[in-house]
Amino acid sequence: MYLFLKHEIEYKAPAEYILDADLDWTHFTHLHKKSHKLFMLLAKTPDYSVFLYRTRYVSFLPFSTGFVVFREYLPESEGYRQVYIPVNGGNPNVLESTHIRHEEKGTITSSAKFYFWLNWYWRLVPSLFCNLLRMRMIKVWNEDFSMIKERIAKQSTTNQACSTPLPDLFRFDRVFLKEMPEAQVAFYGKMYKDFYNEKLSFKTKIRPQT
Ligand SMILES: [Fe+2]
Repeated sequence: MYLFLKHEIEYKAPAEYILDADLDWTHFTHLHKKSHKLFMLLAKTPDYSVFLYRTRYVSFLPFSTGFVVFREYLPESEGYRQVYIPVNGGNPNVLESTHIRHEEKGTITSSAKFYFWLNWYWRLVPSLFCNLLRMRMIKVWNEDFSMIKERIAKQSTTNQACSTPLPDLFRFDRVFLKEMPEAQVAFYGKMYKDFYNEKLSFKTKIRPQT
């Protein structure tokens, strides 16, 4: 069952601070640490980013859900579209984030449309899911508001804590360039199978790599 959620925030603030905060993911690991257990950049091009992250719907409970997130940037609406693939299987969640500038009022509207896939237990109590989500979103918004306020006061779109680079443990770029990881231990196997005589030979060797 999919749940659709649309939310808009109209900000009276310079548009560049809102756009920067909405597109910035480097603040997730420290500012939203109660709701985001892990946030890691896997790959990036000018048009796309790929992230791995684990999120908690309820911050005080130890349960978290892992997603691989594909983000496509949408320059025409100064936003992005994200598809969240759950690492444990299930249907994807989808988010579309867009912005509209109101030059005459000096405001900018940040709009988010979510499609959440609800697991069977949430389908029994969808209103509980909505209420927990609302509590979580209010907390995340307040964290973002404090960051934006600090950035406006400093007249800078970066904060000291956010400038810390995220570890890129997976090094997808290496795999795509066919630079294989270095192994400390190796397993070699060789098999011979004769389907006419039911003969099978199987040899393996495990040894430390030099
Ligand atoms: Fe944020």
